[in-house]
Amino acid sequence: MSDLAFQRCINPVCRATVDLADTSFRCPKCGGLLDVAYEWDRLPVPKTLKHFESKWSNRSDPLDFSGVWRFREMFPFAPDAQIMTIGEGQTLCQRADAVAAYVGMKPGRLFLQYEGMNPSGSFKDNGMTAAFTHARMTGASRAACASTGNTSASLAIYCAATQLMRAVIFIGSGKISYGKLSQALEHGALTVQIAGDFDDALRQVQDVSRRLGIYLVNSVNPFRLEGQKTIMFRILEALRWQVPDWIVVPGGNLGNVSSFGKAFTELQELGLIDRAPRLAVVNAAGADTFFQLYDRHGLRWNAGEFDRPKLDSYMTAMDAANRRADTLASAIEINRPVNLPKALRALERCGGVVREASDQEMLDAKAKIGGGGLGCEPASAATVAGLLKLVKEGVISRDDTVACVLTGHVLKDPDATVAYHTADPAVFEAKLGKRGVKRASFANRAVQVPNDLAEIVKAIELYA
Ligand code: F0G
Repeated sequence: MSDLAFQRCINPVCRATVDLADTSFRCPKCGGLLDVAYEWDRLPVPKTLKHFESKWSNRSDPLDFSGVWRFREMFPFAPDAQIMTIGEGQTLCQRADAVAAYVGMKPGRLFLQYEGMNPSGSFKDNGMTAAFTHARMTGASRAACASTGNTSASLAIYCAATQLMRAVIFIGSGKISYGKLSQALEHGALTVQIAGDFDDALRQVQDVSRRLGIYLVNSVNPFRLEGQKTIMFRILEALRWQVPDWIVVPGGNLGNVSSFGKAFTELQELGLIDRAPRLAVVNAAGADTFFQLYDRHGLRWNAGEFDRPKLDSYMTAMDAANRRADTLASAIEINRPVNLPKALRALERCGGVVREASDQEMLDAKAKIGGGGLGCEPASAATVAGLLKLVKEGVISRDDTVACVLTGHVLKDPDATVAYHTADPAVFEAKLGKRGVKRASFANRAVQVPNDLAEIVKAIELYA
């Protein structure tokens, strides 16, 4: 494999390097997380970001058509012939004035980066194509993940579309929305349902993969995060290469925020941008480890010397109290985010903040996003719910330019959407009320009418 790309421990004191082909995804010296690193001095780096626009004229080449691989000079670990693409990353950055009004921002300042347009319906395909490519480079025949549903849907689709590998997915019992489960089943993944939650499943899949030599595609895999950098490149491109003031992203396993921080650091170091945007991460209030540690306990990256005992004692207390993640935003129902140190690093480099949003706040924001013309799943709406708070607090100004990443499609979790808009109190109660959601302030309820022309006409005249 190329000697121009390798893996490197993120701990600045350790900095151990690991061969590109290694698939253990842990530093052999200190057990820390790894980055994919490059010998940039020996690689052809574009002089300006505008260079990437030229790829549009070459869209008959699948690598230039992909919204991920057309930026491949920014993560050059794979020879072109090995790259596995299924046309991911054809996503949209849409100006969202109606949502801007909801959060109190000026028109023209808020953009929604809609990752639901990916082949499997979530942002995961950006990273999966990169990890899958690396898996192929290492000769893997099986790939595994633990998932709250989107990583598994993405892995299943790549395995089915390429017929190159067998997908093995671990999910917590009762913790996955039907939209996502149906994808794993439909695309033929071996689906292992564990009596536990995502945090349990992630622990198990790491051990099982090691034992059976199965390639792991969870976001502890640094190649995943290389592909996810392109979400930021596409936002910059949509904003005509102007850097926004803020990027807002939901926080689950904290892969995205880690990847975005790395993207902006590299762009700055390579002289392709002159400043980085600030990053805002929004946890679900029922799964708020990162918010607690960063915002409430003041945990910081501290140039790599972060207070590990503080982190460990928080986790120990969480386990002692048997505190489990619990939120309707099932995608981010995670209490042990595997990328936490990388996320701290990203926030230090980009001047970040962390907030939390309740299920009520996320569902209300979701309805407003939908009413503005883009459908997303509950976890994605954490962005707008968090943004509303940050504008109220004055942390984000109504004049700032902000891009919120809508990570997953509305059809991923139709149950949550229907329960919010339902006219039937029993349906609302069963799905939302008993989980603490009090009201559906922006519900669009179906109108019940008799099967009678005059009554139908009357109802339409009354409501539309
Ligand atoms: N949004 C959606 C729709 C997700 O599916 C996830 C994570 C996140 C946000 C959180 O992203 O981990 O980068 O902070 N879903 C994973 C899964 C855990 O298994 O599908 P993160």
